[in-house]
Amino acid sequence: MNSFSFQNQTNIVFGQGTVNQLASLVAPYGKTILLVYGGGSIKRSGLYDEVLAQLKSIDAKVVELSGVEPNPRLTSVNKGIELCRSEKVDLILAVGGGSVIDAAKAIAAGALYDGDVWDFLMHKAQIKDALPIGTILTLSATGSEMNGNAVISNWETKQKRAFGSQHVYPRFSILDPTLTYSVPRDQTVNGVVDIMSHVFEQYFTLTENAPLQERLCESVLLTVIENAEKALENPNDYDARANLMLCGTMALNGGLISVGTQNDWASHGIEHEVSAIYDIPHGSGLSILFPNWMKYVYKERIDRFTQFAERVWGIERGSKSDDELALAGIEATREFFNRIGAPATLAHYNIGRDNLDVMAREAVLFGPLGNFKKLQQEDVKQILELAL
Ligand code: NZQ
Ligand code: ZN
Repeated sequence: MNSFSFQNQTNIVFGQGTVNQLASLVAPYGKTILLVYGGGSIKRSGLYDEVLAQLKSIDAKVVELSGVEPNPRLTSVNKGIELCRSEKVDLILAVGGGSVIDAAKAIAAGALYDGDVWDFLMHKAQIKDALPIGTILTLSATGSEMNGNAVISNWETKQKRAFGSQHVYPRFSILDPTLTYSVPRDQTVNGVVDIMSHVFEQYFTLTENAPLQERLCESVLLTVIENAEKALENPNDYDARANLMLCGTMALNGGLISVGTQNDWASHGIEHEVSAIYDIPHGSGLSILFPNWMKYVYKERIDRFTQFAERVWGIERGSKSDDELALAGIEATREFFNRIGAPATLAHYNIGRDNLDVMAREAVLFGPLGNFKKLQQEDVKQILELAL
């Protein structure tokens, strides 16, 4: 196990009805609130009215930024930054999924920065300060509600880039599983794949002697697998939704389940390049790519993959060779994704060979991708080809 430091400031307020704590959570930060939300799901569900009532009860002044896109765009972030400056915003309240929360983080950092917020995404500048953020999560997927990451798309340059900073961890996040009852089937599926993928990025590591971290990862995976189909069959199953929500938060909250180990993140890097050009949902991209990454790299440390097959998918070794067992685990992953209705090929989105070279080149813009196997441009291209 490697040495590490771990800090996470987010106050998680979890459970049915917890939106009624919003007023008291917001009050310490001031009176002017930038309410950030997406394309209208929060209006349809009634959450918007509930939030406004809570904010009214403390006489807050509410400024709104609506219409944040899935795969949030730099243009929306810049609108939010202008509002923060002109209205002297005290707290940014993000109500929605990962896209809304990520946009809020970029706004929070950009509002206190003299330069172009895109500098942070291109690693040209470090975030030194940010406005405080609170969130109400409506979709279990990214973990953005309890981490310092944001992923923003620049539609002009066709780039999708990420930053991570301690300064943009939400101060509080309200997690009411009933708010995810209205998540459509395909978004629930995308969330499940994203959560599992976050664990894969941490589980497939070369770091030795981290048995607790391995088992923490396995527990999150097993819990997601046990609850995904329950939530798909009955979207109002409180326990299934609550378990998925907690798994989403645990899977990516600054690395709690994988402290002291080296993570990979190559599949995410490749997926972001696909989304940057084709604007496909993040979870769908991961469903297409991750099993192909697994096939491409499993020989680097085959014991990680045989353990995955046995402990996560319950596959018995019997007379199988290491190779057969590892591949059976990878196949079980693909079968599970197929069973819940997640896509398996780039062709599903009519994506062909046209931009494979561009995606592979952009993926390694800051150097080789990943750690389990360090991928060069040619490796990325081969993984994309496997996914066609
Ligand atoms: O925009 P609205 O109307 O709210 O609709 C959204 C959106 O269309 C809808 N939705 C959300 N909650 C709902 C709901 N519909 C009905 N009922 C509800 N309760 O779902 C759609 C997708 O929302 P989005 O926020 O885009 O999904 P997700 O949470 O999966 O976020 C994806 C974004 O997060 C980034 C991805 O790259 C992508 O841009 N990621 C962020 C990470 C992070 N910050 O740590 C890590 C991830 O790996 C990921 O890269
Ligand atoms: Zn992800």
